[in-house]
Amino acid sequence: MFKLMSVAVLIFALPLIVSAAASPALPKGYQTWQKSERKIVTDKNSLFYGVHYIYADKKAFKGYQAGNRFAEGSTIVVEYFNIKEGSSSDGPKNMVVLMRKDKHRKETGGWLFAGYGADGKPSGMDPVGTCFGCHQKDAGQREFVISTIKDFKR
Ligand code: HEC
Repeated sequence: MFKLMSVAVLIFALPLIVSAAASPALPKGYQTWQKSERKIVTDKNSLFYGVHYIYADKKAFKGYQAGNRFAEGSTIVVEYFNIKEGSSSDGPKNMVVLMRKDKHRKETGGWLFAGYGADGKPSGMDPVGTCFGCHQKDAGQREFVISTIKDFKR
């Protein structure tokens, strides 16, 4: 009986654990972290068309300062906004992405990658197919983090 119950618990709990691990909740208060310059991509053919800001927690900022060498747990969040034509302010937020250094994520270079909608809810993007390829190509020599300390206000 006990055995059966634990099997049932496992079967029901497992998908929950897996999906929670795939996309953790966005960290609270990340908007108070070290913030990058306002970055704007005006090429409409680019995936990054729009305005974005990068936020680095304490560990991640130290990692940037060390020339992109990041300690376990370092967390980086990027917020994306639409461009408001003819205005210097930002349009509505359209996406949030996160990277957290996690040695268990071997298939994505030791980083957890996760995507969120404007509401902060996980958007279920595939970290291997959607995220890692690009980061691997552009930042294979920088621990897969493309931005550098130069992107931050100091
Ligand atoms: C088409 C290539 C591409 C894809 C796909 C991509 N990224 Fe990026 N990502 C970039 C570039 C380029 C930057 C640097 C932006 C800058 O310098 O302002 C970046 C920056 C980031 C950063 C800030 C840290 C860094 O590396 O500079 C995070 C976090 C991030 N991306 C997460 C993700 C996640 C999560 C996904 C998948 C949902 C994803 N990215 C998909 C190209 C990509």
